[in-house]
Amino acid sequence: MIIKTLDIKNFRNYDHLKLELNDNLNIIYGKNGQGKTNLLESIYILGFTNSHRSFTSDNLIKSEKEKAIIKGKLIKDISYNLEIDLTKTKKQVKIDDKIITKLNDYIEKMNVIIFSSEDLDLIKGSPNERRKYFNLELTQLSINYYSAINDFNKLLKLRNEYLKNLSMNIPIDLNYFHILTDYLINKSIFIYQMRNKFVEKLNKVCPPIFEQIAGIKGFNIKYNPSINIETFDKEEIKKAMEEAYNNHLEKEIHLKTTLYGPHRDDFTFNIDSSNLREFGSQGQQKMAVIALKLSEIEIFKDFKKTSPIILLDDVFSDLDNQKKNNLLNHIDNDMQVIITTTDLDSIDKKLLSKAKLIHIENGQILEKEV
Ligand SMILES: Nc1ncnc2c1ncn2[C@@H]1O[C@H](COP(=O)(O)OP(=O)(O)OP(=O)(O)O)[C@@H](O)[C@H]1O
Ligand SMILES: [Mg+2]
Repeated sequence: MIIKTLDIKNFRNYDHLKLELNDNLNIIYGKNGQGKTNLLESIYILGFTNSHRSFTSDNLIKSEKEKAIIKGKLIKDISYNLEIDLTKTKKQVKIDDKIITKLNDYIEKMNVIIFSSEDLDLIKGSPNERRKYFNLELTQLSINYYSAINDFNKLLKLRNEYLKNLSMNIPIDLNYFHILTDYLINKSIFIYQMRNKFVEKLNKVCPPIFEQIAGIKGFNIKYNPSINIETFDKEEIKKAMEEAYNNHLEKEIHLKTTLYGPHRDDFTFNIDSSNLREFGSQGQQKMAVIALKLSEIEIFKDFKKTSPIILLDDVFSDLDNQKKNNLLNHIDNDMQVIITTTDLDSIDKKLLSKAKLIHIENGQILEKEV
């Protein structure tokens, strides 16, 4: 899929900007603080409806303006005019000028894979960062996963409320509590299996890519569920969850929270059996995340029979020229890629000649042919 045109108003440091994008490589360049990341962010939001770096709309809207608008023409089987209108309190999404009330229907239209500095938190950050990542990726691959996670979160919240009431000796309907727990287990089985399948796939695709970029063998990802299981067999997950809840109800009541389930899982990124988080260099950690992103593209293409739109924010910094080229060699010709950089000179001339170059200065575009 391709994003053909972009039209943004009152977004971040942009007043009004209209841009036509190349079907393959686009390079956004300019000095620090000019709006390169902001531009990528607008494309990300057009696909996801949320920002990858801000939880509220406040910062997304240009200072002293009321409403930001992001529009884009997406081309896949047919073309769609996508639009997001953001005010400080409200978000409205449209496809072909029609307001879409079910966010699912909107989000599944456009698929974006982004690499940004925030992604390094995947290795360095808390388990929550890693769960967020896996949830986001699986959501893009399967709308059923998206529904399952939403349902799971609602059930979890309810179950936690019941635990809280139990801890305060407020009488509750225990039958309902057990039914709720059963529902939670049912939703969890699907989530566990999907996460496991995704990690298995990543472990096929990712190690050779990491080896090609970083020159190191043995890269692997490990899924560590919060329950004690050997396989991801439905019955085994069910039994392990039931046991965990039965054996630790008192502890859960005491702590007023559900201690076992997909919301407590973690993942590790390793070389052989060493966790990159603890022993990997800065560069190795970065290359691991890049390899992961490149693997996602492969898996996505396989699954959806179309390429997602690739956004690479400042991917080149900290990489030596050899690694940069290794990385660029992975970027396929029939995919739309949008890269930001402060340093155009560091990019291979052959690649530059194929790319659309977009020079950004203070929230404005100076298009330039090389
Ligand atoms: N809501 C907003 N209203 C106005 N300006 C904003 C808003 N949010 C961010 N900015 C401005 O946008 C600029 C940063 O843009 P951006 O992060 O895209 O820079 P960049 O070109 O990616 O820089 P770098 O090379 O350092 O990554 C800052 O000058 C910031 O003040
Ligand atoms: Mg930036």
